[in-house]
Amino acid sequence: MNKKFYITTPIYYPSANFHIGHCYTTIAADAIARFKRLEGFDVFFQTGTDEHGAKIAQKANEAGVTPKEYVDKIIENAKDLWASLDISYDYFIRTTDEQHIKGVQAIFKKLYDQGDIYKGEYKGLYCTPCESFWTNSQLIDGKCPDCGREVKEVTEEAYFFRLSKYQDKLIELYDKNPNFILPLTRKNELVNNFIKPGLEDLCVSRTSVKWGILVDFDPSHVVYVWIDALSNYITSLGYPDEDAPLFKKYWPADIHLVGKEITRFHAIIWPALLMALGIDTPKQVFGHGWLVINGGKISKSLGNYKDPREYIDVYGIDAVRYFVLREVPFGADGTFSEEALINRTNADLVNNLGNLFNRTVSMAHKYFNGKIENKDVLEDYDKSLIDSVNDLDKILNEKMDGLKINEALEELFDIFRKCNKYIDEATPWVLAKDEEKKDRLETVLYNLLESIRVATVYLQAYLPDTAGKIFKVLNTDKTSYEFNTFNKDNKYNLNEPIHLFDRIEVK
Ligand code: MSP
Repeated sequence: MNKKFYITTPIYYPSANFHIGHCYTTIAADAIARFKRLEGFDVFFQTGTDEHGAKIAQKANEAGVTPKEYVDKIIENAKDLWASLDISYDYFIRTTDEQHIKGVQAIFKKLYDQGDIYKGEYKGLYCTPCESFWTNSQLIDGKCPDCGREVKEVTEEAYFFRLSKYQDKLIELYDKNPNFILPLTRKNELVNNFIKPGLEDLCVSRTSVKWGILVDFDPSHVVYVWIDALSNYITSLGYPDEDAPLFKKYWPADIHLVGKEITRFHAIIWPALLMALGIDTPKQVFGHGWLVINGGKISKSLGNYKDPREYIDVYGIDAVRYFVLREVPFGADGTFSEEALINRTNADLVNNLGNLFNRTVSMAHKYFNGKIENKDVLEDYDKSLIDSVNDLDKILNEKMDGLKINEALEELFDIFRKCNKYIDEATPWVLAKDEEKKDRLETVLYNLLESIRVATVYLQAYLPDTAGKIFKVLNTDKTSYEFNTFNKDNKYNLNEPIHLFDRIEVK
């Protein structure tokens, strides 16, 4: 039986203003999910929308509609954005789904019945845009440490989750599973800033917020939006029914992929909740860095915001996907600029891959009418190219297992670079002048086509649109993982060459 792999993105706040930074988590998760599927894993890739909370209620009010009407309309924007980026999610959860609401209510009740949730009074500082409570010592210059905005003092009757009880168990979890929080810098931040100072019990209900999941045994309270949101990862699988087929098959999650600012919710509150529920904790929480513009956040108010679909329209899906996956070491912050996107596209996609593909296929047509077989007339240096192609599997597996997505792409594109170098060494246009070298010429073209084919098997994980185009021209059905090594006995009957990418002129 295939091994399972459950990967999630955070569920997004519904928005009309997604920017390229928002696409980061989802494009990365998509590449990981596609890579695992390629390898034969039974993948469940989940994303969705986080639709409750005061902020949404306020926006709906401004628009003169009910919160539900507001979210029903606006979540289409997320679905459309993911479609335009070729995101291959298996399940899209909405926190307004009936199954999710019932699941969250059951979770809350179970924790209350067993004493992990109790009633008390909350006095504290709340940041409405971030839906986060803060203590005085966590504020920076008296403001929310995440967004820098004003916090409000709030006093109200509230339910609390005994987070403090799980302090030692969390430390044990991190110690026993060194890869639970990655990259390591994030783990150190969490341990030093949150765990070591001592965890306080967490306020998990609000009476002042109306748009949320009601605590069914005390309906003047709604469930704190982060408890509601985090639970999505199991309610989608059928929890609280622990015998639900999806839950049995996919839980625990293999990776929760999240941005760095929400790592603490996923690596502290979430595993503590799961421990309280008596179910397995996820295997890994990976907190990636941010894409920034001019060293700062991307935002509409700063005027550096563009809808990602504008970049897709101008440069193509795969130029955007490639840039996001390749430009920045995965985990660190990185700079987004249109200029960098153009440079990357021209250097790697146009000059390296595009050029290689076009000239190889063109030569195959020019010299052999597109029909190529291996004539096995080898030179010593052919072996080095073929060996590199056959090493890809091991290298890419290592890189992807460590979520070094940018390095994996670097290795993959190194094959195309080596193919270009091989053309320069083999000089097919010189071979073509000599009838006696015809078999060598055909072998050279065969080696190139076969190397491109194998690399493209992997390229499907990162640039599915481009990979599809390449396979179509190669006219091959050997596209799956089982055909991931250099085979001497394929036969090519190529379709006409195409330009995979157009050079982008800098204005
Ligand atoms: N709703 C919460 C998550 C709840 S999960 C139980 C949330 N939503 S969000 O819409 O604000 O963010 C969604 C994802 O986009 C997060 O992973 C976040 O880190 C990511 N990004 C938003 N802006 C970003 C950048 N500028 N750069 C990279 N990723 C960033 O948080």
